[in-house]
Amino acid sequence: MKILVLNGPNLNMLGIREKNIYGSETYEDLLNLIKETAKENRIELEVFQSNHEGGLVDRIQQAYFDGTEGIVINPAAYTHTSVAILDALKAVSLPAVEVHLSDVSKREDFRQISYAGMACVKTIMGKGLLGYKEAMEFLVEKYHRKGE
Ligand code: DQA
Repeated sequence: MKILVLNGPNLNMLGIREKNIYGSETYEDLLNLIKETAKENRIELEVFQSNHEGGLVDRIQQAYFDGTEGIVINPAAYTHTSVAILDALKAVSLPAVEVHLSDVSKREDFRQISYAGMACVKTIMGKGLLGYKEAMEFLVEKYHRKGE
């Protein structure tokens, strides 16, 4: 199964940014966990991070044409603002799981809306880096269930 893991703005700053909220593990640590999870589950993996909304939209569109079968996305701040990312996820219509490191449901009011989440089959939040592993394994299970 081919999975694309997408990360939005400032997630490349993990381990540096607001450690009290996002922890001290780095983006490199996140990449290692994602790669390990892919190996364990025989996932063909693509990973992409961008600080630009259009870059994320372009990458989601590309997923439609390159054989991607599932998307894990942490749109970061664009979660709460981007109809363009929501529309891109709807356009490609691939099963997508939304991940947030922090529990956004317990944070500021402006974080209470998730546009991208409206096009996702599942949302995982507040589990730190492990949320990505859970999201990837959920997509693998879903993919195998499809064939039953
Ligand atoms: C985040 C939560 C967002 O509200 C925030 O803008 C981020 C990270 C998370 O992973 O907890 O940048 O998506």
